[in-house]
Amino acid sequence: MLATCQEKASDTLAHLAGAGRALCLTGNRHFPAVPSRTSHRRVLNLEKVTIMAKVTFLGTGAMGSRMAMNLLKAGHDVTVWNRTPETAAPLVDAGASQAFTPREAVEQAGVIISVLRDDDASREVWLNPEWGALAGMPASAIAIESSTLTVSWVRELAQIMSSRDRPFLEAPVSGSRPQADNASLIYFVGGYEGYVDHVRSLLLQMGSDVFYVGSHGAAAMSKLATNTLMGVQVAALAETIAILIREGVDVVRVLDAVSGTASWSPMAGRVAQSMLAQQFAPLFPVELIEKDLDYMLRSADEAPAMPAITGARDAFREAMAQGLGQEDMSGVVRLFVK
Ligand SMILES: NC(=O)c1ccc[n+]([C@@H]2O[C@H](COP(=O)([O-])OP(=O)(O)OC[C@H]3O[C@@H](n4cnc5c(N)ncnc54)[C@H](OP(=O)(O)O)[C@@H]3O)[C@@H](O)[C@H]2O)c1
Repeated sequence: MLATCQEKASDTLAHLAGAGRALCLTGNRHFPAVPSRTSHRRVLNLEKVTIMAKVTFLGTGAMGSRMAMNLLKAGHDVTVWNRTPETAAPLVDAGASQAFTPREAVEQAGVIISVLRDDDASREVWLNPEWGALAGMPASAIAIESSTLTVSWVRELAQIMSSRDRPFLEAPVSGSRPQADNASLIYFVGGYEGYVDHVRSLLLQMGSDVFYVGSHGAAAMSKLATNTLMGVQVAALAETIAILIREGVDVVRVLDAVSGTASWSPMAGRVAQSMLAQQFAPLFPVELIEKDLDYMLRSADEAPAMPAITGARDAFREAMAQGLGQEDMSGVVRLFVK
C-alpha cells in the first residue's frame, strides 16, 4: 500500500534527519523518490523546481486556463493541451505553446499540471495508451493532478505513477474563477511530502496558500470535505430563502440579521446575494457541485446512510434534470422559488 510506503518514508526521513539526506528506493535527477529503509541509493540532486519551470497544462477549462495564464504572466515557459483546442486560443495568444496530444504536451515538461473535469477525464488524459500523458512523461518531471477527483482514483493513479517511477502529487484547489484569476487559490497537497518543497513556489504563483495534508487521497478528501460543507449549505440556503418568502418576511432584512450570527459563513453572503438577485452566471456550476457531493458519497460506502449530503446531492441532481446544470450552484434556488 502506498500509504504504508509513505509512513515508512516519514519514519525514514525522521531517522535520517541527522544525516541531512534521504535514502531512496528509486529516484531521478530532479526529484527524490519515496524513501525506503531497504534502499541504499543516495539522492544527489535535491534542487528545487527552478522558478522558471517548463510547465505543461492538461485542461484549459475555466480553472486551468486561469492558472496557466498566471504562470505565463510570471514568465514561465507554458505548453497547453485541451480536448477542445480552440479553448486554449487566448493562452496561445499570450505566448503558450499548444500541443495536439497530452503525450506530446508533456515531452519537454518539468512540471505537468492537470485540471480536468472528473475521474473519467483524468484517467483518459493520463493513461490513454496511444496519446496519454504518462506515455510521454519524462523521468525528470513531476506530475500534479489539480482536478477534484475521487479518493479511489487519486490513489490508483498514484500507484500507477509510483510503479513507473514518476513523481506525483495531488493538489486540488479551493476557490473559484475570481480566485484563479487573482492567484489566491488554496492548494491542498497530498503525496510524498518531500516533493512539496520542489513545487511550492510554483503553486504560490497561482494561489495564496499551500497546505500539505498527508499521503495520496488526503488532498482529495480535503477538497471534497470543503465542497461538501459548501454544497449542503447552498442547498439549505435555497430552501431557507423559499420558506422565508413563503412566510412573507423581509428576506433581505432577515438574512442581514442572520449574517451577524455564528451560523453564517463567508460564502453564504455571495450565494444568498446571487439567489436574491436571480443572477446565476456560473462561478461554480451546479454540475460540478453535484459531482463533488457524489464523489464524497462514494467514500461513504453507503453505511451508515448520509442523509444531509445525499439530500444536497439530489437537489443539485434535480437542478441538472431541469436544465440548470451550467448555472452557478446558487441556481438550485430555482427548484424552490419560481
Ligand atoms: N470552477 C470552479 O470554480 C472550480 C473550483 C475548484 C475546483 N474545480 C475543479 O477543477 C476541475 C476543472 O473545473 P473547471 O471549472 O475548469 O471545469 P470546466 O471549465 O468544465 O473544464 C473542464 C476541463 O476538463 C476537460 N475535459 C472534460 N472532459 C474531458 C474528457 N473526457 N477528456 C479530456 N478532457 C476533458 C475540458 O475539456 P473541453 O474544453 O474539451 O471540454 C476542460 O478542459 C474540476 O475537477 C472542478 O471540480 C473547479
